[in-house]
Amino acid sequence: MNGLLLDLRDRLKPPLWEFINRAAKQAEERRWNLYLVGGIVRDLLVHQFDDRCPILFTDIDLVVDGFEGTAVTNGGIELAKILKQLYPNTRVEIHPKFQTADLIWKHDPEFDSLSIDFATARTEYYPYPGASPVVRASSIRQDLYRRDFTVNAFALQLTQPDRGKLLDFFGGREDLKNRLIRVLHPQSFFDDPTRIYRAVRYTLRLKSELEAQTRSYLNAAIDSGIHRQIQTEQTKVPGVQTRLKKEIKYMLEAPYWQTELKQLANLGALKFIHPQLTLDNRLFRQMQAIDRGLRRFHSFLKVRIDRWVILLELLLTRLDAEDGLQVAANLQLSEDSLDRLHKFYRFREHTLERLSQSQRTSEIVSVLQPHDLPFLILIAVCSSRSIRRKIWQYITQWSQIKPMLNGEDLKRMGYRPSPQFKEILEEVKIRTLDGEFGDRTQAETFVLKNYSPQ
Ligand code: CTP
Repeated sequence: MNGLLLDLRDRLKPPLWEFINRAAKQAEERRWNLYLVGGIVRDLLVHQFDDRCPILFTDIDLVVDGFEGTAVTNGGIELAKILKQLYPNTRVEIHPKFQTADLIWKHDPEFDSLSIDFATARTEYYPYPGASPVVRASSIRQDLYRRDFTVNAFALQLTQPDRGKLLDFFGGREDLKNRLIRVLHPQSFFDDPTRIYRAVRYTLRLKSELEAQTRSYLNAAIDSGIHRQIQTEQTKVPGVQTRLKKEIKYMLEAPYWQTELKQLANLGALKFIHPQLTLDNRLFRQMQAIDRGLRRFHSFLKVRIDRWVILLELLLTRLDAEDGLQVAANLQLSEDSLDRLHKFYRFREHTLERLSQSQRTSEIVSVLQPHDLPFLILIAVCSSRSIRRKIWQYITQWSQIKPMLNGEDLKRMGYRPSPQFKEILEEVKIRTLDGEFGDRTQAETFVLKNYSPQ
């Protein structure tokens, strides 16, 4: 076994290594080649140069072609189905249009949660910029050529006779060593503008630079106006929105999100989200404040919220309501996000003014009470300092204050449960919040004086 395969074996859990070998054997029996491709091969190579670089095995990409580089129509799907029979615990998802299939494990005792993608080596073309590609079975070389960057265009052969051989047709190894991100052909960014985001991400993640020619292709794609085509032809290009969302998520989840976002903004690449979206200092500071706010109020969060989700929502609040909601829908954000954005625009228009004028604690609480923490953080970072202070105080203190009396106390005092109960408790709560009662006796005296027991 050669170096890369040994590295792979050492880094995979034994059941996964066994799975890969069984898959290779099944392919060999059918006179197919099986290759490991994508980020995992790149990361194995990076690891050879830079031992500190972690390898994340969240998904594994395999590609099938025929011996002597012939095309095997549906080979990937066939192989996935065969392995599904050998691993009945998995779920298989088939995508005939792309000639791919995923084998999926969920919380498996041996495999944990993992997805293995089986593809048929394919060539593809994009009928128009950003479109979903039209695909045709082909050889591994052509399959690698359709990919984004040389450093992502490796294949590690898993089947005999060349088991363990690294296929590097486009100089990816050299580029990895020289820390260069280079496209494989001039059309790359036009075919798929989300590669602009990927290019910047890889420069940061792999501590690399854009190769000069690649940089000029990237700038040309940004300046060409294809972003308008993508936005006006939504229904024709749903795929690009899915990929864009994935890239935005990767970016905002990464430890280097601030640098990546700034670089994309400087390149003018935010227009692929929306033509009017820009990043000024104020917005950038607000985004940093979201990050801090989520950490600071972590213990108050009742449900988990991902940082990338709320950072993206904040970006969209920069647009007017109609555009922001349209972008959110195009990116297929969750119902939760759409809901929060709806509320945000309404709040900004109708309620913010009231909040800025409210001085009494009870009034502030009644404005903020209906909203959850992510929403409050979003509003806070976009507001003036005085409003922000009120919101922080609400989160940390006022939302925790309990009224001096409760229903049991009222019963003990001789009141019978009735609609009036609610009214009394509400009044007690308001006065408690506004600090009008020094202790419970004062609260009781107030109630007895103002409401007669029935
Ligand atoms: N790819 C591409 N263009 C895209 C997205 C992906 O050419 N817009 C190709 C790349 O060759 C990439 C492969 O598809 O290696 C798989 O994509 P993805 O799963 O997004 O990346 P990973 O390989 O998992 O790499 P990473 O760890 O960098 O995310």
